[in-house]
Amino acid sequence: MRRVLHGNLVYAPALGALETAEHAYLVTENGIVTGQFSALPERFLDDPIDDFHDALILPAFTDLHLHAPQYPMLGMGMDLPLLDWLERYTFRTEARFADPDYARAVYRTLANALIRNGTTRVSMFSSLHTDATLILMEELERAGISGLVGKVSMDRNSPAYYTESTEESKRETLRWLKACERFTRVRPILTPRFTPSCSDRLMRWLGDLAKESDLPVQSHLSENRSEIAWVKELAPDCERYWETYAKAGLWKPGTLMAHCVYSDAIERKAMRDYGVTAVHCADSNINIASGIAPVRVLLEEGTMVALGSDIAGGAQLNMLEVMQMTIRASKIKRIETDWQTPFLTVAEAFYLGTTAGAAYFGHAPGFPIGKRLHAVVIDDRAWGDIDRLTIAERFERAVYLAKEPDIIAVYADGVRRK
Ligand code: GUN
Ligand code: FE
Repeated sequence: MRRVLHGNLVYAPALGALETAEHAYLVTENGIVTGQFSALPERFLDDPIDDFHDALILPAFTDLHLHAPQYPMLGMGMDLPLLDWLERYTFRTEARFADPDYARAVYRTLANALIRNGTTRVSMFSSLHTDATLILMEELERAGISGLVGKVSMDRNSPAYYTESTEESKRETLRWLKACERFTRVRPILTPRFTPSCSDRLMRWLGDLAKESDLPVQSHLSENRSEIAWVKELAPDCERYWETYAKAGLWKPGTLMAHCVYSDAIERKAMRDYGVTAVHCADSNINIASGIAPVRVLLEEGTMVALGSDIAGGAQLNMLEVMQMTIRASKIKRIETDWQTPFLTVAEAFYLGTTAGAAYFGHAPGFPIGKRLHAVVIDDRAWGDIDRLTIAERFERAVYLAKEPDIIAVYADGVRRK
């Protein structure tokens, strides 16, 4: 079944670059992009068309770090630093996902909200509950979202009402992985919460499992000063935080590490050398006053960086708002430090929130031929001046102004979902 899309295409082919195609056509066959044209070839003239006229068509957004069971506490506890925020709000909220009915209701709402906001590919943390994690994966698949989901592992330094024994954690992880075989769009990712939450024994077991079963890994790294000091106490044999993951076999190509706010030159080099991706979560880092990650430096050094909303540390699900926060945070960093390091531009933040995330999942920039279409359509007519502005100017304005209702269509994994 063929379908044609028409509108103004905008995407980021490389960091800092913007490609636009005015009044262009995308041709899809069973959801897979088969061609991009500036004028529609005659042979497609009779095919059904989603004609978005003057609207902007962008690649859909990728969110490579968010906590699904924190969705009910969005915007709460924002005046607390990380470790207090975890104790006072987060663990309590996540513990409620022992109830499958509650999980079903929240995760259905979350999956729909992601689609409505144009996020179609994710890497997500669940809670430590196997059943709720499977419910989350079902709801994401149902909504059309693809990517990775992790049952969280945590067997130490956690409250009695929200923890697992080492043996229980291993057993539940295996039960979860077995049950994951039925999913197609959403795959499992091993998820030790962070070093303070996982015993050496559990970390090592997860590292062995990652290797044997060729599974990806995600966690948190160097987010907050008190957290880093705690890791140092817990692992006196490790000079730096990253080594606590490396010594367990969890530091490898494809590993996602959220935050990296305080990663120094040696830790950053370890990320680049091992092919670990830093997931920058600007909104979260500002909200719980963690700091501002050295994103420009990471990029210049050749480390892969993508963006995460980190809800509910981040209070914004909409990745356009996350991109704005990324830009603002980098400007604040420049203003408050040396006035030397260039801030991240709109095109660069857009690259990190689309192209870089897609690259993590093995997709080329833009609307790659031979892959299922991931796209959002933004109607910017309400802000005026459509005829006077270039597509690039309208795109920049849309990054700052577009809210959920302005996203008038979303294609996820080849299917129109909004
Ligand atoms: N470190 C360990 N757990 C968490 C979490 O849930 N959110 C954030 N931002 N950092 C963490
Ligand atoms: Fe997080």
